[in-house]
Amino acid sequence: MAKRPASRIPPILIALVLQFLAFLLSLLILRLTAYPISPLNISLLTGITSAMLSRAFRMAGWWLPIQLLFAPCLFLLLGLDLPPAAYLAAFVLLALVYWSTFRSQVPLYLSSRRVWHTLEEILPAAQPGKRFTFIDIGSGTAGGIAHLARMRPDVDFVGIENAPLPYLLGKIRVWLLRLSNCTLLWGNMWELDFSKYDVVYAYLSPVPMLQLWEKSAAEMKAGSLLISNTFNVPDHPPDYSITLEDWQRSTLHVWHMPK
Ligand SMILES: C[S@@+](CC[C@H](N)C(=O)[O-])C[C@H]1O[C@@H](n2cnc3c(N)ncnc32)[C@H](O)[C@@H]1O
Repeated sequence: MAKRPASRIPPILIALVLQFLAFLLSLLILRLTAYPISPLNISLLTGITSAMLSRAFRMAGWWLPIQLLFAPCLFLLLGLDLPPAAYLAAFVLLALVYWSTFRSQVPLYLSSRRVWHTLEEILPAAQPGKRFTFIDIGSGTAGGIAHLARMRPDVDFVGIENAPLPYLLGKIRVWLLRLSNCTLLWGNMWELDFSKYDVVYAYLSPVPMLQLWEKSAAEMKAGSLLISNTFNVPDHPPDYSITLEDWQRSTLHVWHMPK
């Protein structure tokens, strides 16, 4: 398959520009044809045109349904006659959850319970008098590390998250459960030194995987484990992979960092 050319422009900006372009094209098409220039016609045609433009500009496949449905959904929402404060509230809520996703392209979605149970099995066995450290980079609402922290009191669990609301929910969870072996950091995982951790767990997206590999290879200790849920590293096959029978058909890819 042909590789998409790397672009420094965030895809969300490209998507917005294409929506605007599609809107202008739709007005033009409706003007040149006998169809009435109504909000319904404009929104439908804008949706179709922006999806076609997104394909022509080789945006990732999952952008196409978003581009197709964006304008028709706006049309439907306007019909509901909601107060302006509802839009502001929805915007603030989404911003607090998805924060820097427009740049990182790593949104919030959670690992399944099956993943955390399998991680329990993958983690190195307890050794008397020896502790090790596990970090979940982009820990979301910290459900996974909280579960593991209860199961493995001999391991120090750390999560780092940069989106305010998931971080806050994770903090409350860890506090309510009184987990002394679980710490949550608010910050950017790319600024963290991976050499402090024996296991690095990542559930990100296809976008940063090569960057993750380069950082891990440069910083992680020999013999430590890098585990990625679902997303593989181009040209760096894992030592082994486990596909799970959960609804996401998650696959855990595991690398033993070389000596
Ligand atoms: C797919 S979710 C995974 C959540 C959790 N690790 C799990 O497996 O259930 C990825 C998370 O990474 C966070 N994230 C993305 N980029 C980040 C960064 N540079 N630093 C810290 N967290 C980040 C997102 O906000 C999101 O909550």
